Amino acid sequence: MLCFFPDANFFAMPLPKSRFHARLGTFRQLEIFVKFAETGSISQTANDLHLAQPSVSIQLKKLSDNLDVALVEQVGRKLYLTDAGKELYASSLEIFDSVGRLESRLASLSGLQAGHLRLSVVTTSKYFFPHLLGPFCERYPNIEVSFNIGNRGSMINRLRENMDDFYVFSHPPEDIEIEKFEFVNNPLVVVASADHPLAKRKSIQFSSLKNEPFIMREPGSGTRFAVEKYLLESGNTVNVKLTIESNEAIKHSVMSKLGIAILSVHTLAQATKSNFKILNVRGFPLKHHWYVVYLKNKQLSDVAQTFLQFLKEEGSEHAAELLSNSVAKGYV
Ligand code: PGA
Repeated sequence: MLCFFPDANFFAMPLPKSRFHARLGTFRQLEIFVKFAETGSISQTANDLHLAQPSVSIQLKKLSDNLDVALVEQVGRKLYLTDAGKELYASSLEIFDSVGRLESRLASLSGLQAGHLRLSVVTTSKYFFPHLLGPFCERYPNIEVSFNIGNRGSMINRLRENMDDFYVFSHPPEDIEIEKFEFVNNPLVVVASADHPLAKRKSIQFSSLKNEPFIMREPGSGTRFAVEKYLLESGNTVNVKLTIESNEAIKHSVMSKLGIAILSVHTLAQATKSNFKILNVRGFPLKHHWYVVYLKNKQLSDVAQTFLQFLKEEGSEHAAELLSNSVAKGYV
């Protein structure tokens, strides 16, 4: 066995000049700070981390005192991060990222696939994404997954801040340096209620739908982004009657004959022919894809690489299976 006996020279080695790390606080304090930065609320931080509110305030104050800078400022009744707070937040994410990679490397050394995988997916992919996670988690039971859902706009913000390992989009941003892998088709179709007057029509010109009441997703939505792009490129217009932030509510509105909509086929996984009709509109489905995305220079943990491999090899198959009993069978 090799042993390391430090000699006198070793003890004479100079310590790093700056002892800043000694003032940086404990990991627990950084964890509290990160949670506060993300929620903007002491009570929410306390709730999420199972702490009393005064403990949160005390730990934030200790951190700020140690660093000798204000991390948080109060404007009116709201608390905001100062510029120093924002810097500490960005660095804390890098620190936790690196600790996560260490955890996953140590686990690999002992023959285990273990660690934490942080994912953020756009709302529309929530219909199939959990069904990909199921088989993955079954195969790797020691991997802990946290899973965030929001519309395209909020996912772009998380990506910019490097908050997660991977993001799922069908329209990744073009102004951020990223790596992206296409892993499942995401066709968009025009849906109407099953007994809509156009339901039996064999071939519909999109322009003939211009007076139909149309239900649109909210600004910031990737689906809306794709619909607006299509309208712009094809020179068509729609008669927007309702704007709704949820695919589920849009589906119910379509079923209640409030209007037609353009949706991803993945939202129709539970929809049957008795409720919905995918209209035979020329030029549809619009062909889009789901991409798994991460920041260009991000160092992926072993766990993240294992997940990426899984998505590339099996993602498509699991997603298609889900539509097999629905009105969207065969679309993916
Ligand atoms: P959305 O995104 O859920 O924000 O509409 C869907 C997409 O990116 O296609």
